Amino acid sequence: NDNLQINAAGHLAIGGADTIALAEEFGTPLYVMDEDKIRQVCRMYKSSIETCYGGNGLPLFASKAFCCKEICRIMNEEGMGLDVVSGGELYTAMQAGFPAKRIQFHGNNKTQDEISYALSCGIGHFVVDNLSELELLDETAGEKHCHVDILLRIKPGIDAHTHQFIRTGQIDSKFGFALETGEAMDAAKAAIHAKNLTLTGVHCHIGSQIFEIQPFELAAKVMLGFIRDVRAETGVELQELNLGGGFGIKYVENDQPVPYDRYMELVSNAVHMCCNEYDLTAPKIYIEPGRSIVGEAGLTLYKIGSVKQIPNIRTYVSIDGGMTDNPRYILYQSQYEAVVANKANESADFEVTIAGRCCESGDLIQEGAKIQRCIPGDILAVLSTGAYNYSMASNYNRVPRPAVVFVKDGAPRLAVRRESYEDLIRNDI
Ligand code: LLP
Repeated sequence: NDNLQINAAGHLAIGGADTIALAEEFGTPLYVMDEDKIRQVCRMYKSSIETCYGGNGLPLFASKAFCCKEICRIMNEEGMGLDVVSGGELYTAMQAGFPAKRIQFHGNNKTQDEISYALSCGIGHFVVDNLSELELLDETAGEKHCHVDILLRIKPGIDAHTHQFIRTGQIDSKFGFALETGEAMDAAKAAIHAKNLTLTGVHCHIGSQIFEIQPFELAAKVMLGFIRDVRAETGVELQELNLGGGFGIKYVENDQPVPYDRYMELVSNAVHMCCNEYDLTAPKIYIEPGRSIVGEAGLTLYKIGSVKQIPNIRTYVSIDGGMTDNPRYILYQSQYEAVVANKANESADFEVTIAGRCCESGDLIQEGAKIQRCIPGDILAVLSTGAYNYSMASNYNRVPRPAVVFVKDGAPRLAVRRESYEDLIRNDI
């Protein structure tokens, strides 16, 4: 990654900060986030909307990828919007002073309390998933004497995870309204008639860690086709289109992400083409990337404990974290690269299995990892862990969650304190 260096001491550095010094100061395991890298990606998304789409759009950060007050503050400073999927994410954003108008509330089963809370906050948009939510939202807004803008979540039926992406039957997904059954059109009509809601547009999200551009283009076309059909049936022309997130990042050598500004360029072209063809005004566009904003900006530091050689089979290198701070291997067999941070300039010819500390054989970070020769006490850095690691961390085995540190111009600052044993029993009675 371009934000990582090897410094004069032969240590791995991130954003100019020596990872060994960070591990000493803040302890391990430790999440480290490179602030400049995060800001760069935000600016790139903003400027590509500017150049490719005349600025008629807003990138939202999908906070599920990494949510704490500090990231919300940074997103606010960068003028980004925010995608939240729970009362907890919304609360975090509000506590960080994030403007509610720039927040969109997702989720396929928002509770009455969450709906009510979000309305009290004055949230910008609800992304409505189903008819019961539509009714509940209209009713609750009525009781609160407020009015709220909504988008409808549509299933565009694009499977971006097959090798050659395809448009499939879209009915079997728990998210959103299906197009071909007429469900989406019925929802649009109901939304237009709802007294306390304004239907401003539609939303879709086709998947995550996607390396191709065509599925996004196809999604844009399908969604504009729906906007055209809604106009034909109701006379209302929707003005907003949220195309979701999902842009892939580099975890390992073979990952080949598309430069993120190319997404906007191609999607903008697709949108303009369809708008011409269907005689529509180009809608305001939202995108909501999560992983691509924070993923490569983060790494996790661990202390190596035992190095256990099983003759002719493999070597286990055990670390002081694992599935509790990074459950992505056990969930998805995700690939990562790792570096022995205090030996970063040595050759990486030691093939090992990186094992976590939990009582579970599957608690691994990586099999067949190539790292530098290491001994107990060395510091291991696992790279590209900024997305869906901290946010999916757990207290399994009553392991406290690590601290989060942000680095800028070589200087670290603590953003989330390490959990203590007292934190673990805080709610125990
Ligand atoms: N918008 C919606 C409605 C989403 O559901 C998601 C991700 C995003 C935006 C952001 O997608 P991104 O740009 O981050 O790919 N836990 C999994 C990822 C789950 C993604 C869920 N939705 C992982 O660790 O890979």
